Amino acid sequence: MQYERLVDWAKGVWEERWPGRRYMTVWASAECSNMIAQNQIRSGRRLRGKARFDGLERLDCPVVTPISDYGTRGKKMTLTTTAGAYVFRFSVEGGDPFEVIYASSYFDDNVQDLTAVAIVPADRLETWAAFEFVCARAVRPRIRRRRDVYIIGGTDAFFDPTVEWDDVILPDDLKRELADDMEAFFTKGVDIYRQLKLAPFRKLLLAGVPGTGKTMLCAAMAKLAISHGRIVVYVSGSDRDGASFEKIQRALQAVTAARYPVLLIVEEIDAYLQGEDKARILNVLDGVESPNNPEGALMLATTNYPEVIDERIAKRPGRLDRIFVIPTIQDDSHAEQMLRHYMADQWREEHLAVVPELINQPGAFVREAALHARMLAAHEHRTEVSLEFLQQSIDSLLRQIRAGNDFLRDRRPIGLTNAPNKSLRKLPRSNPFGFGG
Ligand SMILES: Nc1ncnc2c1ncn2[C@@H]1O[C@H](COP(=O)(O)OP(=O)(O)O)[C@@H](O)[C@H]1O
Ligand SMILES: [Mg+2]
Repeated sequence: MQYERLVDWAKGVWEERWPGRRYMTVWASAECSNMIAQNQIRSGRRLRGKARFDGLERLDCPVVTPISDYGTRGKKMTLTTTAGAYVFRFSVEGGDPFEVIYASSYFDDNVQDLTAVAIVPADRLETWAAFEFVCARAVRPRIRRRRDVYIIGGTDAFFDPTVEWDDVILPDDLKRELADDMEAFFTKGVDIYRQLKLAPFRKLLLAGVPGTGKTMLCAAMAKLAISHGRIVVYVSGSDRDGASFEKIQRALQAVTAARYPVLLIVEEIDAYLQGEDKARILNVLDGVESPNNPEGALMLATTNYPEVIDERIAKRPGRLDRIFVIPTIQDDSHAEQMLRHYMADQWREEHLAVVPELINQPGAFVREAALHARMLAAHEHRTEVSLEFLQQSIDSLLRQIRAGNDFLRDRRPIGLTNAPNKSLRKLPRSNPFGFGG
C-alpha cells in the first residue's frame, strides 16, 4: 500500500538527518501541504506551547509526484491541495530545533483524498499538532463561530432576520408545511441523505407575485433556523454587483465550510438564470456543483417570476425539491387578519367594509393602504381612522396601480419584441409601488 512506501521513504530521510533520534510515525493532515496554508503561514509564526515554525523545504521523494489542484479564492486563481514531500522546521523555547518529515500523496486515482504521513520527534507531537491546526484553519474559508448570518454581496442592511413567525400572515397550512419541511430535513433528512451517500442539500422555492411576503417569510425562517443553532447564508442580488454566479459560488463555499447546518437564502433566483450563468446554476441544482456540508444545507430561493423557472427546472425531479406558491390574499378571513394587523391600534369594526376589495391583493398592498389611511387621518388631526379615510387610501392606491400598469403597457414598444427575454423581463421587475424587495 502507498502509505507504507511513504513511511519507508520518510524513515530513510530521518535516519540520514537525525540518526538515532527517537521518532513517531503518524497520520498527518493533508492541509500541511496545501498551498493556501503554505503561502499564508510564514516562517517565524508562533505556535501553541511556546513553539515556532521556522520554515519548510520541499524534498525530492521517489514515491510522490508533486501535483496541485487549483481554485478561486476571492477573485484570484490559486493553487490549493497539493501532493508533495516536505521537511518542516520548528523550534521550542528552551529546546533544540527539530524537524518533521512529511509526505502527502494520492493512493487511489479514483479517490480525490490525499493520504499524508509524518515522522515527528517522539517528544514533539504537541507542536506538530499545533502546526496542523494552524494549517487547517488557513485552508478553511473563515467561517468562525459565532456569527449567525453571513451576507454575500451587500451589508447587514440587506437582510434582517428579526421577523416574528406570527407576523407573517399567510394560510396556516402553508406556513406549517414550510417550517415542517425545514425541521424534518435538519432533524431526520440529513442522516437519510448521508445513508444514501448523497450530499445533504435540499432545495425549496417560494414563488409568487411581488409583495406577498416572500422576503418576509425568508427572514422569519432565518430567525427560526438561528434559534435552532443553524447558520444563515444570505445571497443578495440587489447590491451594485447585481446577480452574478460568482456570488452563488462564494455562498456555496461558505455553506460547505460552515461546519454547522446552514439555511441558504437566494432571493430572486430568476435573476441568476440568465445567459451563461444559467448552466452553472443548473449544475448546482443538479448536484454537480452542489455544496457538501455534512451537517446539511437547505436552500430557500424566491422568485416573483415563476415563468422563468421553466420546464427544465420545475418539471425535472431533483432540481427543486418543492415549490411553495405564496399567494395573494384569497379569502375574507385572510384579508381581515392582514388589515387588523396593519391597522393595529387604529382598527375599528367598520373597517370590515373594505375587506372584499383586498381579495387578490398582496400583503404589501394592505400595508400601504393602512399606512396611508393613518397618515391621511393624522394630517387632518384626527385621532381615529374612519372608514372613509381607509376607503380613500385604497382608492388612491388602486388608481396608482392602474396608472402604473397602463404606463408599463404603453411602454412595451413594438421594437422590443425581438429583443432577448432578458430586457422584457426587466419591465415588470421595476415595480412602481415599492411592493416586495
Ligand atoms: N403575508 C404577509 N404578511 C404580513 N405582511 C406582509 C405580507 N406580505 C407582504 N407584507 C408586507 O409587505 C412588505 C413587502 O413584502 P415582501 O416580503 O418584501 O414581499 P415579496 O418578497 O414577496 O416581494 C413586507 O415587509 C410586509 O410589510
Ligand atoms: Mg422579496
